[in-house]
Amino acid sequence: MIGQRFSAAAETYDRHARPQLALAQSVLSVVPEMYPEQILELGSGTGQLTRLLTERFPEVPIDAVDVAEKMVLHSRAAFKRFPQIKWIVDDAQTYWGGDRYPLIVSSSALHWVADLRATCENIFQSLEPGGTFALGMMLSGTLIELHELRQEIAPEKTPSISLPTYEETVEALEAAGFRTERKKHSEEQILYDGAKAFLKAIHEQGVTGGRVSAGNAPLSRTELSRLVADYQENHVADGGVYATYETATFLLSRN
Ligand SMILES: C[S@@+](CC[C@H](N)C(=O)[O-])C[C@H]1O[C@@H](n2cnc3c(N)ncnc32)[C@H](O)[C@@H]1O
Repeated sequence: MIGQRFSAAAETYDRHARPQLALAQSVLSVVPEMYPEQILELGSGTGQLTRLLTERFPEVPIDAVDVAEKMVLHSRAAFKRFPQIKWIVDDAQTYWGGDRYPLIVSSSALHWVADLRATCENIFQSLEPGGTFALGMMLSGTLIELHELRQEIAPEKTPSISLPTYEETVEALEAAGFRTERKKHSEEQILYDGAKAFLKAIHEQGVTGGRVSAGNAPLSRTELSRLVADYQENHVADGGVYATYETATFLLSRN
């Protein structure tokens, strides 16, 4: 289900992925000076973080894992000139590459997994002792305005599951055995030209229809018009509208 949704967004994602790019940059910024022999990236999508990795670690082999087959096909084609990247269709919750990695990274992806704690345990097992795991997560405050408005307009179509909270994430990482070396937790308002532009942008990021912004049942035309009008009226900023993104970046180690 999640794989299918992100597959559909593969062609349009990059133009509208400002918060994701900022988070990918934050993830890379916490990675200490090191010379890893190999890197594992989980939830690589269209390769925003992968590209940054190739700039910082030229020629280091990267295993880029994503559960959405079309995302993997799209990125494999887009990154033809980078033979050091192996694009793999698999689930971060269960992926085992046959060996441990000195560096594992993930950005804007693990909040989608079915079981965050099991995923963290699996990543811990994939990390070399002494290795580094840099993680960027979108958290429960993300798109909160939209979520609340949807609940008001069409409660039965609003998803009951939400993104993990900061506390849940910290707990899952600690329970898996990671030691936290650094953490950054932030809430930011991103501006969009208007409510329509905002909804289009998040749709193209592959987040509509999912846990943050929508339910499984699509909104009717009337509900959608009301959503656009109410969002435009209630969340004005600088001639457009704003949306909140709550994120966290963690630098973790296995000691
Ligand atoms: C919002 S994109 C982020 C992509 C990229 N890391 C970035 O920073 O732009 C989230 C990606 O996570 C992938 N994903 C979701 N659940 C996953 C899972 N359980 N295992 C692996 N990838 C997953 C999706 O298919 C999607 O490509």
